[in-house]
Amino acid sequence: MMTQINKHLKKEQKGEDKGCCGIPGIPDSRFLKAVSDSTRLRILAHLVEAKEPQMVSEIAKNFPIDVSVVSRHLAILRDEGILLAEKQGKEVYYSVRYEFLSSIFRGFASAIESCCPSKEKGEYFMNSKEKKINAKKIREEVKKTYTEAISRKNLSCCSSLEKTCCSTKAKDIGYSEDELNNLSTDSNIPTFGCGNPLAYSEVREGDVVLDLGPGAGLDLLIAARKVGPSGQVIGVDMTEEMIAKAKENIKVAGVKNVEVRKGLIENLPVESSSVDWVISNCVINLSPEKEKVFSEIARVLKPGGRMVVSDMVGENIPEWLRENKNLYSACISGVISEKEYLSGLRKAGLEKVKVSERIVYQSDELESIIKSSPEISKDIKRIVREQNIKVASIKISAYKPIS
Ligand SMILES: C[S@@+](CC[C@H](N)C(=O)[O-])C[C@H]1O[C@@H](n2cnc3c(N)ncnc32)[C@H](O)[C@@H]1O
Repeated sequence: MMTQINKHLKKEQKGEDKGCCGIPGIPDSRFLKAVSDSTRLRILAHLVEAKEPQMVSEIAKNFPIDVSVVSRHLAILRDEGILLAEKQGKEVYYSVRYEFLSSIFRGFASAIESCCPSKEKGEYFMNSKEKKINAKKIREEVKKTYTEAISRKNLSCCSSLEKTCCSTKAKDIGYSEDELNNLSTDSNIPTFGCGNPLAYSEVREGDVVLDLGPGAGLDLLIAARKVGPSGQVIGVDMTEEMIAKAKENIKVAGVKNVEVRKGLIENLPVESSSVDWVISNCVINLSPEKEKVFSEIARVLKPGGRMVVSDMVGENIPEWLRENKNLYSACISGVISEKEYLSGLRKAGLEKVKVSERIVYQSDELESIIKSSPEISKDIKRIVREQNIKVASIKISAYKPIS
């Protein structure tokens, strides 16, 4: 027989739920704290999926942390009434108190709707935690990674990757032999991209092309061939060593109309309405301030100008993964979803926003990328599947309206 052992369902039992800050319906800070921890949320999600009550030892198998830590998290959730704890013999079984949870969240939603003016839908990227992240610090980390990557012999920014922004094999990510052999310079220019933004693009002779984060300059040189001597190509990158490498490659190629400027993609050193094309390859995902990047793209494009970008997107990226700086630089942890990307570009004023290519990573590929970061648990395969973590490389295009 099961005996209920939740001793702390105090709010309902003692009628103490008067709401936080005098606003009925707003849960108190202890409840909010209980559900604002990423591990506890994962435990909760696990119990929802399990559908049946589970013992601590069963639950703990699914997490790369000690059983005693899982037990502490369970106690917090139990004490706030979120989980039901029932004793059977010596074992305690935990299950989710759905009705309690939905009544709390329904009350919360209606309290907010009734007291706060409704904002435009679309807090579209970066959860509140990311907003607090120090953008400068993230950029410093990214810069450090790419400085090291371009200075190393194997050139990778992570240990065992293919196809993300750590790739060094241009052919693997969509560059043709023709493109690579016609550069008048080293056809093995390292790429840290995740696609080929210029493939099938309509860049024409005489156009002005701006590349956000050109790295060692492969796309700059491909663009230079397309625009010819009457056109102009500009790259903006923040990493000095990358800029030096790009300049070296440009010099060897002997092209005169390619220029690399040092700067941030969030604050482009480029005149407004001055470029026909903005291209970029696996860079915007690295920005901690994507909203600014999207509005800078809209600013620098000429009316009628276009953007074509290869980049990484993702869904269900858990907080612990977002916090991992190695995987941030490996173009995984900073991703936003495809939907957020599209709405971000539209919000910046761009139109005809569409995705023309999408390569979704298989869970095995994703697992090996995530595992390349040393501090990640060995059990990542199961976690990737259970949490439905999804990452894809996409090619996305947009247009700046004429008026
Ligand atoms: C993943 S690599 C991609 C390089 C290049 N697009 C390619 O395909 O090989 C990222 C590049 O973007 C640059 N970068 C990252 N964040 C940046 C930012 N916020 N502003 C300017 N450059 C940035 C890095 O210095 C690096 O050269």
